[in-house]
Amino acid sequence: MSHHHVITVSIFVFVAFFLILPGNDVVDVASKASESRTRRCDLFSGKWVFDNITDRLYDGKKCSFNEVKFVCLNDTHLKWRWQPHECDLPRFDGAAFLEKVRGKKVVLVGDSLSRNQWRSLLCMIEPFLPPGTNKTLILEGNFIFFHSSEYNATIGFHWAPVLVESNNDDLGDHQTFPGIFRVKSIEKHGRQWLDSDVLIFDSYAWWTTHSFLVSWGSSDGPHSTHEQINNTLRVFEMALNSWSDWMEMHFNGTKTKVFFMSPSPFSKLNKTYNVYGTDAGCGEMREPIPDEDYWPSGVDKGMMRMVESVIDKLGERGVKVEYLNVTRLSGYREDAHSSNKVIGWVNWKGSKRYSDCLHWCLPGVPDVWNRILYHYIMRL
Ligand SMILES: *[C@@H]1O[C@H](CO)[C@@H](O)[C@H](O)[C@H]1NC(C)=O
Ligand SMILES: *[C@@H]1O[C@H](CO)[C@@H](O)[C@H](O)[C@H]1NC(C)=O
Ligand SMILES: *[C@@H]1O[C@H](CO)[C@@H](O)[C@H](O)[C@H]1NC(C)=O
Ligand SMILES: *[C@@H]1O[C@H](CO)[C@@H](O)[C@H](O)[C@H]1NC(C)=O
Ligand SMILES: *[C@@H]1O[C@H](CO)[C@@H](O)[C@H](O)[C@H]1NC(C)=O
Ligand SMILES: *[C@@H]1O[C@H](CO)[C@@H](O)[C@H](O)[C@H]1NC(C)=O
Ligand SMILES: *[C@@H]1O[C@H](CO)[C@@H](O)[C@H](O)[C@H]1NC(C)=O
Ligand SMILES: *[C@@H]1O[C@H](CO)[C@@H](O)[C@H](O)[C@H]1NC(C)=O
Repeated sequence: MSHHHVITVSIFVFVAFFLILPGNDVVDVASKASESRTRRCDLFSGKWVFDNITDRLYDGKKCSFNEVKFVCLNDTHLKWRWQPHECDLPRFDGAAFLEKVRGKKVVLVGDSLSRNQWRSLLCMIEPFLPPGTNKTLILEGNFIFFHSSEYNATIGFHWAPVLVESNNDDLGDHQTFPGIFRVKSIEKHGRQWLDSDVLIFDSYAWWTTHSFLVSWGSSDGPHSTHEQINNTLRVFEMALNSWSDWMEMHFNGTKTKVFFMSPSPFSKLNKTYNVYGTDAGCGEMREPIPDEDYWPSGVDKGMMRMVESVIDKLGERGVKVEYLNVTRLSGYREDAHSSNKVIGWVNWKGSKRYSDCLHWCLPGVPDVWNRILYHYIMRL
């Protein structure tokens, strides 16, 4: 094994564990009846209801695993609870989760939204870690992880923003534009997934927000020519096919549980909803969008359907992938993006009014994704 570079989480001094009790947080899924109700329920279809008491699983400023960038100054976005139409979101029990992943390796793979979700998950379990747990994150190349020696459990994040190989595969330095996406090469990433027990993929934003070039070779290969292809959907499909071929080849018949996150929407604010009448972008939104038919303008349904169809076909080829369809439920929350509400964050342009409209405050929306993920993992 190569060197372990160690990153100490020193952004926040960890103060003795301080859990904000979930209170009468949703339903206690203790009874069989309510459990089977949740089983049938579509957790992705619902609405955000005002609730200023429950649903706060941790304090974002105190979480050892949080990032400055995800810590928001104003907590008003937390006064809303995701309420599926047909049932309640299962309560999150971090102790049960840790027991479930004992001796296992759970890996989130993807872009910075995946990293956002990974940090959320770690913050959610932190209050349940035994006292004295070494919370140092360990960095190995583009893989960063937390390991609990008590549970012998690894919960990590593998930076692979377009799943296939690219010239932006460096976890710490990935600002090369135009990106070069090697749509046929996935081996270098795939090899790192092999010993995982749970894999949670995402890949969307990088396909839409930057211009990119396509390369047919691998980074080591002799033919590293690349070209511009304007049909993003087609290129996206090629990359997803490389991914699904790899998955079929290596995960056919294995016990690895695979998830795919639907696109995390980014805000291209519909100004009619900006009741506060400013032009500051999503950072000025104060409440979830109440219109249940609202579709986030930044999300391409065609690309979303492409993921769904690739996953379906992969299922027919023997690899079942659970699709967590969080796009719509997240899209209502233009008020919950990490933006100019962030503490002490100054963006690369030197502007204090950094408005990102892409990532999410923690605590916040990714906690809901993880509660849904939790529901599926606990069923395994
Ligand atoms: C919750 O909201 C209600 C209605 O706005 C308000 O009366 C109450 O004081 C709030 N409670 C807390 C803890 O903020
Ligand atoms: C947070 O936002 C609310 C709603 O806009 C506002 O009333 C409150 O003063 C803000 N709090 C802080 C600390 O900025
Ligand atoms: C820890 O878990 C790994 C799998 O993630 C397993 O290979 C190893 O044997 C376990 N170690 C102990 C001490 O149980
Ligand atoms: C915590 O873990 C890191 C990485 O494995 C290690 O370098 C460090 O010495 C550990 N700290 C303690 C107090 O054990
Ligand atoms: C793709 O679009 C760019 C700019 O819009 C254009 O210059 C180029 O010719 C197009 N390439 C193809 C293959 O259509
Ligand atoms: C904003 O959203 C509302 C409700 O979905 C819609 O009626 C309106 O046309 C949208 N406006 C723009 C500029 O997209
Ligand atoms: C694994 O793949 C082979 C060949 O692609 C296929 O015949 C078989 O049914 C697959 N196994 C499972 C469990 O899906
Ligand atoms: C995901 O959710 C969207 C919006 O609710 C819906 O249009 C789409 O059909 C869903 N996809 C799947 C596979 O359920």
